[in-house]
Order: sequence, then structure tokens, then C-alpha cells
Amino acid sequence: MKKACVIGWPIAHSRSPLIHNYWLKKYGIDAVYEKKAVEPANVAQFISNLVTSEFTGCNVTIPHKEAAFQAVTKADGIAKRLGAVNTVYIKDDLICGTNTDGEGFIASLHHVYPTFSLRNRTTVIIGAGGAAKAIIGALFDEGVERIGIINRTRERIHDLQAQFGTGIHEISETTSNDALKNCALLVNTTSQGMEGQPPLELEIQSLNPNALVADIVYTPLETVFLANAKRNGNPVLGGLGMLLHQAVRGFELWFGVKPEVTAELYELIAADVQKVHQQ
Ligand code: ATR
Repeated sequence: MKKACVIGWPIAHSRSPLIHNYWLKKYGIDAVYEKKAVEPANVAQFISNLVTSEFTGCNVTIPHKEAAFQAVTKADGIAKRLGAVNTVYIKDDLICGTNTDGEGFIASLHHVYPTFSLRNRTTVIIGAGGAAKAIIGALFDEGVERIGIINRTRERIHDLQAQFGTGIHEISETTSNDALKNCALLVNTTSQGMEGQPPLELEIQSLNPNALVADIVYTPLETVFLANAKRNGNPVLGGLGMLLHQAVRGFELWFGVKPEVTAELYELIAADVQKVHQQ
């Protein structure tokens, strides 16, 4: 029987087993997906041992994505661009790594807004960490022309400019009204607004009324940031869809079936998020 898993530290709250085991059952595949707590010191060894282990591959979550990138034998172009791996699989006896976070965001957006085009558009991203990088890379791949970044630490914006080039520009307090007025998509990639974290406070009165406002946070399912955007009349996109869509490619690589993100799966995971929320 095939087995896959998600590794992280801690790992107790990962929803990946719920997602993958839903699909395994739906497609009648005799396999199992588990969570494995792997200490930071053991990540490299866990990944090196995959070929001879009981696992056909794994997902990698916080804080192991960079260590996994170092540990795989072959990282693809997207993983190299991000220096981070979230999906590991074996091909021709090689341990391969990729990163599906960016494509997960884009697929989630297109799932909910199928006619929304990113080509030649201007977007604004809040944050400059790993999640921001994954989304920025995917947005440029989709043909976005210009990405403005709002971030607490300005040096990290300069790092993004060095990596992605002139399409990236820094947004300061004095330029933020203009940037928001002209953008087609505004995305929070920081952990602000997550349960237990302070909310994201951004003045959105000048925001283009047609701009799509997205959050990668999904606990709660609707953040204060998204609720404000909705009240402002903007279309919104919650973070849970990105989690579901980033899981698609790993499942296909390990089990040979491209799974569908159904409304039923969304409801299953949303109910789990809400259950934990109420505890
Ligand atoms: P990830 O890989 O999940 O994106 P990260 O690389 O630590 O995590 O990046 C987190 C992002 O959220 C950063 O842009 C961070 O801002 P800094 O670069 O200034 O650290 C941002 N962030 C997290 N908590 C924040 C807070 N309380 N206020 C403002 N920005 C915050």
C-alpha cells in the first residue's frame, strides 16, 4: 500500500491529511496519508531516506521548506527560485522537490473568479517573506506587469527587487493611496489577522472598487481584512482555497490521479477550521 505524509514541527494542526485522505477515498485509491513530526535536525535525513522508506513522497510545511530544498537531489525551477520546497516525490530513483504554493494561489483565484485576468495588470502585495515570493513568482508567470510591495522591513522589498527585477516597486505610506487606487489585486501574504495574531490594519478607502482582495490566512476563514474589503464593496478571496489547490500536484505525483477541489472538500476543511476556532 502506498503511503505519503506531511512533515513539519509541530505538525498536529496540519489539515493535509484531511485533504489527501478525502481524495484517496473519493478516487478509491488504496493508500494512506499521514502526518509526521520531524525535528529540524532530522529533516535532511528523513528526505534522504525517502527512496528506501515506506513513503512515496511528502509535503513539507513550516519550518522545514528551506531545509527540504537543501536536502532534495533535484529541485525544479520554481523551487530554486523560492529556495523552498513544499512537495517531495521520487522520480527515476531521484528525490525531487517542487513548490506548489504559488500555483495554489493562482488556481484558487481562477476557481472562484474564472474570468479574472492577470495579464498586464498591476497588483499590490502585503509582505515580503516566503509566501509573498511564491505568489509574486506565480503572478509574473501569469503575465502581471507591476507588483507593489508593502512591508514593515524595507530591506526585504529591496531583496525582492534584486531577485525579480523592475516589475517590483516599493510602496511607502505616501505612495500607498495611488498604488491602491490603481491596483487590480491586493493580497495579504503575512500572518497578520491569523488567530492569535494582531489584525492587519491597512487603510483601504482609496482602493479601486473593482480590485480583488485576497488573504492567504484561513484561520479564521474570513479575516478582519477581508471583512473590511467586503464592506467596502470589493470582491474577496479567502486563504483556504490556496491550501486546497496547493495540494493537487503532490497528490497527482504520488498517486497518479489529478484530484478535484470540490465544494464538498472545501466544506469539510472549513468545518474543521471552524471546529478548532470554537474550542
Ligand atoms: P512566510 O514564509 O510565511 O511568508 P516570513 O518569511 O517570516 O514567513 O514572512 C512573514 C511576512 O509577514 C514578512 O513580510 C513580515 O514582515 P517583515 O519582513 O517586516 O518581518 C510580515 N509580518 C509578520 N508579522 C507581522 C506584523 N506583526 N506586522 C507587520 N508585518 C508582519
